[in-house]
Amino acid sequence: MQPAGRIVDADGAIVVDSLFHIYAGEGENVTALRGLDLSVRTGDMIGILGPSGSGKSTLLRLLAGLEVASAGRLVVNGRNLSRATSRDLAWHRRHCVAMVDQHYWRSISPYLSAREAVELPLRLRGWPRVERMKRVGDLLERVGLGDRMAALPSQLSGGQQ
Ligand SMILES: Nc1ncnc2c1ncn2[C@@H]1O[C@H](COP(=O)(O)OP(=O)(O)O)[C@@H](O)[C@H]1O
Ligand SMILES: [Mg+2]
Repeated sequence: MQPAGRIVDADGAIVVDSLFHIYAGEGENVTALRGLDLSVRTGDMIGILGPSGSGKSTLLRLLAGLEVASAGRLVVNGRNLSRATSRDLAWHRRHCVAMVDQHYWRSISPYLSAREAVELPLRLRGWPRVERMKRVGDLLERVGLGDRMAALPSQLSGGQQ
């Protein structure tokens, strides 16, 4: 299933090399990342600290394949995201990285129940229905939502959402 090619050698789960990201605006450009270097090994758990506007969210969006860096190298799980096609990035988002934005309510659909929301990525991966249902049940059970699977976001508490 994994597309061939574009796999590069890398020691770590994440290797960032002189990464730049520039948001081009009307008149003014914002340089959000200015030559970032970072290496994260498989199994490491890290926190990224910095003042507002220092580029933390930008880095996360690049790691999640939601945007492509302006310059530099970004390798995640052996995949060079700085050279990835939009097809590669879609595969990366579907199979490798999940991200919950701090503004999480912007990314949950008001029309999907808890069950449907958790099921959606498994559908995109082509999981058969029976396996999907089992996995969705297990996951929602784990976060204490086993009895609220049919609820829409508007029917859930902030924390449950
Ligand atoms: N979509 C965008 N368009 C233009 N500038 C942006 C955009 N997103 C973020 N920025 C700017 O990029 C810089 C880094 O933002 P961000 O990565 O969100 O910082 P942090 O998450 O550390 O607060 C900030 O100066 C911000 O204003
Ligand atoms: Mg942020």
